[in-house]
Amino acid sequence: MTKLWGGRFAGEGDPQVHAFNASIAFDRRLAHQDVAGSRAWARALGRAGILTADEVTQIRQGLRQIAEEFRAESFVFAATDEDIHTAVERRLVEIVGPVGGKLHTGRSRNDQVATDFRLWLMSAIDVLDGQVRSLQAALLARARQHLRAPMPGYTHMQPAQPVTWGHWALSHFWPLERDRRRLAAARSSSAVLPLGSGALAGTGFPIDRTALAADLGFAAVASNSMDAVSDRDFAADFLFAAALLGVHLSRLAEQLILFAGPGFGFVRIDDADCTGSSLMPQKRNPDTLELTRGKCGRLVGHLTALLVTLKGLPSTYDKDLQEDKEAVFDAYDTLAGALPVMAGLIGALEVYPEAMRAALDPGLLATDLADYLVGKGVPFREAHGLVGRAVRLAEESGRPLPSLRLEELRDISEAFGPDVTAVFDWETALERRAAIGGTAIAALEAQWREAVRALEGLAG
Ligand code: ARG
Repeated sequence: MTKLWGGRFAGEGDPQVHAFNASIAFDRRLAHQDVAGSRAWARALGRAGILTADEVTQIRQGLRQIAEEFRAESFVFAATDEDIHTAVERRLVEIVGPVGGKLHTGRSRNDQVATDFRLWLMSAIDVLDGQVRSLQAALLARARQHLRAPMPGYTHMQPAQPVTWGHWALSHFWPLERDRRRLAAARSSSAVLPLGSGALAGTGFPIDRTALAADLGFAAVASNSMDAVSDRDFAADFLFAAALLGVHLSRLAEQLILFAGPGFGFVRIDDADCTGSSLMPQKRNPDTLELTRGKCGRLVGHLTALLVTLKGLPSTYDKDLQEDKEAVFDAYDTLAGALPVMAGLIGALEVYPEAMRAALDPGLLATDLADYLVGKGVPFREAHGLVGRAVRLAEESGRPLPSLRLEELRDISEAFGPDVTAVFDWETALERRAAIGGTAIAALEAQWREAVRALEGLAG
């Protein structure tokens, strides 16, 4: 069997070169989209009067049989199938005869592959959106459980100020919410129809591209045929959204590894999400989280790879563009593997509010002590220095900050009064942060309700 484009070529070609050029090993994942695109194209050719109604029916039925073969996994690829498009067309001619050769009228693999790929990505993004939502739901449930439980908050990994477990859990909810918006934006940029652009210059037949777009579920029609066959912005949009989602999963994983570790002990990761050591019998390693963190590398790599591939392309289709697919497929597979695992891990996490409370160091209230002085009319900058002196005195005398006597504090500043003892209370400190986004009960409850609304799709 000769190649689709074999007419002007002499000889059989080099098998090594054929293997190098072929994309069938990975673009077979576009099988259903290729058949759907071809069925719609046959209908469009019929509408344009290029195919008779009978020819359209024959071709569409042949394509339906091919779809069945893909579904049943009985489709047999031939050694000469270079990519999914040639495989489907070869099989179509086998099934319906020479009329199958009319399907490629006015179409190119250049507009075809871009169409298939966009269709594939649109449904892949729908799957990921559902998976991110499940992870968000798991975080929401854990946040609700100990919404107000005090916990040390950290900057630079140093104890900083008190927060709550719920506030922490929700701090990992919102990045995922932004990820869903980025994924939705990548879906919108995918939903533009290239088919009908031909190889680069448009199609020479009176195709109703608007009807074609509607048939295939595209929201718009690409305006420039030359742009349409080479535009991979949608893939880059997706890979950026995927990479940043990977970064967020990695940060969550890293934080949980620390919180589950011996220095913190705030949570326990379920046995199912850990593995043992082949050598050290006592070990319980958080492999699931480490892999989630590690896989971020390839997500970032795929984005870089695609951008570098695109940057040298002069105009319209170049074979370099075949490199777009493996990056996107692997980014999808990586996330589709990690997201449900992370949702399960969050759902099975044991949370220890007592350990968090025990880790609260009175030093975390130094800012509140400075704010107390501000309440007495001391400028904040000065208050910061005065409390710094109190912290040093406590440290040097080996006592916690609240154990300093009033006289000692008054030696530092006359502004300290007997009411200073009220500062040293966790709930008071949390409750003082009552502005939107803070740790006060009302602010936390409002944040939680807002998160629920966002997840239910009622916000924004
Ligand atoms: N397998 C190719 C790809 O993935 C399909 C388009 C081939 N077009 C061409 N003119 N060789 O990009």
